[in-house]
Amino acid sequence: MEFSNQFSDKRVLVTGATRGIGRATAEAYLRAGARVAINGRSESSVSRALAELEAGDRAVAAAGDVATIGGCSALVKAAIGGLGGLDILVNSAGIFSQRSMEDSDEAFWDATMNTNVKGTYFCSRAALPALRKANGNIVNLASTAGLRGYANTTTYCASKGAIVNLTRAMAMELAPNVRVNCVCPAIIDTDMARNEYTTGEAEADAQMAARGEQYPMQRVGTPEEVANAILYLSSGDAGFVTGIAFPIEGGYTAGSR
Ligand SMILES: NC(=O)c1ccc[n+]([C@@H]2O[C@H](COP(=O)([O-])OP(=O)(O)OC[C@H]3O[C@@H](n4cnc5c(N)ncnc54)[C@H](O)[C@@H]3O)[C@@H](O)[C@H]2O)c1
Repeated sequence: MEFSNQFSDKRVLVTGATRGIGRATAEAYLRAGARVAINGRSESSVSRALAELEAGDRAVAAAGDVATIGGCSALVKAAIGGLGGLDILVNSAGIFSQRSMEDSDEAFWDATMNTNVKGTYFCSRAALPALRKANGNIVNLASTAGLRGYANTTTYCASKGAIVNLTRAMAMELAPNVRVNCVCPAIIDTDMARNEYTTGEAEADAQMAARGEQYPMQRVGTPEEVANAILYLSSGDAGFVTGIAFPIEGGYTAGSR
């Protein structure tokens, strides 16, 4: 998809942008002319990503842990300071691990909810004054796990279901000034999916391909395909779109064949 120069005056913060979907999204915004603040948990991971992006002063650092309110405030402040304001926030930082209910203890619940839900909420809250000023918008990363239930995934499903409805509620509260949408990807070929769904590097590609057979499109998705949807939702072309949960899942939630 070509968004060339559509975002040339836009200032974007992407959380969890050191790899995976966040990284592909940051790259897509940079290609489309935006200036982008790169978040990751540590200064070193952000510095490494910035060096790899080779975007000069169009990419700035916004390191910080989204799982704490203090971390959210600090990283959003760094982004706004580095970019001189904010038009778009993409909440992509997240964690995922499959566990049975019996194996899910308080620490696991807290880590998942704090990163996925609290991070999304408090990064958005910290960004609000700047987004209101810019008539900006927010795109959250939910999941098909926010639309359906999966066994051994209760905590993650709870966190992504929360993001879907948080998106709707934020959209109601912030309209017409700030639009808020989320995307709901199925399995996307990133470290997150590979770490969880494959064993051993040798057959990892085959295992990911096998995972894709459950989808009508017969494959898993790519980070770039999610980035395309995020750019659309945050663009002027989506000016009448708010409060939606946009599935990117090869037909998975449409039905069965
Ligand atoms: N990959 C998939 O199959 C898939 C499917 C649906 C939804 N998602 C969602 O998309 C988002 C991105 O997933 P991904 O596949 O790119 O994952 P990933 O593990 O490849 O990347 C996650 C990024 O988030 C960062 N991060 C994690 N915890 C953080 C914290 N506390 N503070 C700051 N940064 C933190 C990581 O450093 C990394 O940069 C997540 O919210 C995930 O739940 C992924």
